[in-house]
Amino acid sequence: MLIALLPGDGIGPEVIAQARRVLDVVVGDRLTYEEGLVGGAAYKAVGHPLPEATMEIARRADALLFGAVGDPDCDALERRLRPEQAILGLRAGLSLFANLRPAKLFPELADASALRPEVASAIDLVIVRETNGDVYFGEKGIRTNAAGRREGYDIMCYDEDEVSRIARVGFETARARRGKLCSVDKANVLETSQLWRDVVIEVSADYPDVQLSHMYVDNAAMQLVRNPGQFDVIVTGNLFGDILSDQASMCAGSIGMLPSATLDANNKGLYEPIHGSAPDIAGQGKANPLATILSAAMMLRYSLGLPAEADRIEAAVAKALAGGVRSPDLGGTHTTAQLGDAVLAAL
Ligand code: NAD
Ligand code: IPM
Ligand code: MN
Repeated sequence: MLIALLPGDGIGPEVIAQARRVLDVVVGDRLTYEEGLVGGAAYKAVGHPLPEATMEIARRADALLFGAVGDPDCDALERRLRPEQAILGLRAGLSLFANLRPAKLFPELADASALRPEVASAIDLVIVRETNGDVYFGEKGIRTNAAGRREGYDIMCYDEDEVSRIARVGFETARARRGKLCSVDKANVLETSQLWRDVVIEVSADYPDVQLSHMYVDNAAMQLVRNPGQFDVIVTGNLFGDILSDQASMCAGSIGMLPSATLDANNKGLYEPIHGSAPDIAGQGKANPLATILSAAMMLRYSLGLPAEADRIEAAVAKALAGGVRSPDLGGTHTTAQLGDAVLAAL
């Protein structure tokens, strides 16, 4: 099986290196890797954040393991050349529309959560975030309006087929868990959200066994910190899902702990931590690699048909944490490599 290995920028290569060590121990030469340039690293090397050579590897691969992109040196570039276009281009170009972001507290990390331990310990949810539409991909620009003033715009748009296919992923995910789906929108204000809600209700007819609820996104942000245990599966659009998943990460201890899978209709997937390139800590050995290691486990489970190996990695992460290893984001002083060492020792 071929893995497209896409380290990217900042802490991306640092966390990918640890995930690679873990994969080498757990699956060894059952996987082969082809490395591709993405993000600012790709722009600096060949003038584009998502070179065709990388897309070619990505298309051929059985799964993609992605670090992070983003480079302050590139923030002034025209948008199509910015590092972030790499992840957006992969999601769009490979029709990776279903972004699964599980947030669960490892019991050993109750003290790292921003919430009181008794509130935090209840968190065990999956955010199912749509990643091919919404304001991300609508018409956008900066124009001069009739009053001669500059005006920025990003059109928010979802068609009913985009909503129904992500709704089905939400219902299926809920069905395989505790059977509760909460659809998060802003239907009290946005027409896009009204269509979203109507279509989710239509799709629910096929899932009478799943308990469906609806929540406005502002309330959802509040409920996530008030009582995260009330959620099983959240299904939502691209922008709301982006924001809520960073928030959920801190309920579960750290942004350095949350993995993700972004799947197409055939379970080909891109696997990445939910965090970015963290320029503030890059190159210092401070990055927590566990989100990326857990993303590698998701890759084995969802795209490569190796669930026992995925379980083994997740158990090793739990054991490493139980042994007391902690990067700075978790309140400790261990380095990126020491976290990798602890997971390998647990394996
Ligand atoms: P970020 O997620 O990179 O960092 C936010 C904060 O969390 C920083 O203080 C950082 O040090 C910390 N952090 C993040 N990951 C960590 C880890 N593994 N261990 C310990 N601490 C960690 O978000 P940002 O600072 O808003 O963005 C930085 C760059 O990353 C930007 O260019 C942004 O566009 C990009 N970005 C990329 C992705 C992606 O590649 N999928 C995701 C988010 C942001
Ligand atoms: C994420 C990131 C990306 C997003 C950015 C870098 C384009 O924040 O993967 O969560 O907004 O989807
Ligand atoms: Mn994000």
